[in-house]
Amino acid sequence: MTNENEQYADSLYKEDLDLIRVRETLAANGMPDISVAEGYGRLLTMLVAMSGAKQLLEVGALGGYSGICLLRGAGEAGRLTSLELKAEYAEVARGNVEAAGFGQAVTFKIGDGKASLEQLKAEGQQFDFFFIDADKEGYPVYLEYALALATPGAVIVGDNVFLRGRTMNAARVGPAIQAVRAFNERIASDERLLSTVLPGYDGLAIAIVK
Ligand code: DHB
Ligand code: MG
Repeated sequence: MTNENEQYADSLYKEDLDLIRVRETLAANGMPDISVAEGYGRLLTMLVAMSGAKQLLEVGALGGYSGICLLRGAGEAGRLTSLELKAEYAEVARGNVEAAGFGQAVTFKIGDGKASLEQLKAEGQQFDFFFIDADKEGYPVYLEYALALATPGAVIVGDNVFLRGRTMNAARVGPAIQAVRAFNERIASDERLLSTVLPGYDGLAIAIVK
């Protein structure tokens, strides 16, 4: 799914044992190989480091790939709350995040992401970095919660905003596609956000809460 520009850029980087372990455990456990793209994993680390974010939240853990990338950017004080629908996936992610040295920095919340977000909101928790990478139908609601839980200056990132070309194919009108279109339009037009959409890989939306 990567084009030759992306392949060339990725070829500049050495294999990363902690991230290779994630790919291996995904395969060994029959999980889909749909972690965030390599170049965007590196970008997540950079965005966390550049923003100084410490209280990180991701929606969708899968095997822990993005969680490791996020925590790498935050240093010793970094804390990640990782929401994952499936307990089996969260266990795989936990093993991989621990193996990468971040076991003390992560809290998994298993089950429906919206329920976990509602609970975090009720507890008055706040975050300065959000990575949305779960069921695509949920993206608009996840964005709404991110805005509600965000500190001023918080960063909100969304993966797969092109849905492998389905987002911009007007003939496609399924619920996940319409939800991602709504998410993208909201990211681009909400006056509380400064944003851009990166067109590499499967599209990445990046916003800062003003
Ligand atoms: C796909 C990729 C993803 O990163 C994701 O979060 C969901 C689906 C895919 O390529 O199908
Ligand atoms: Mg994704």
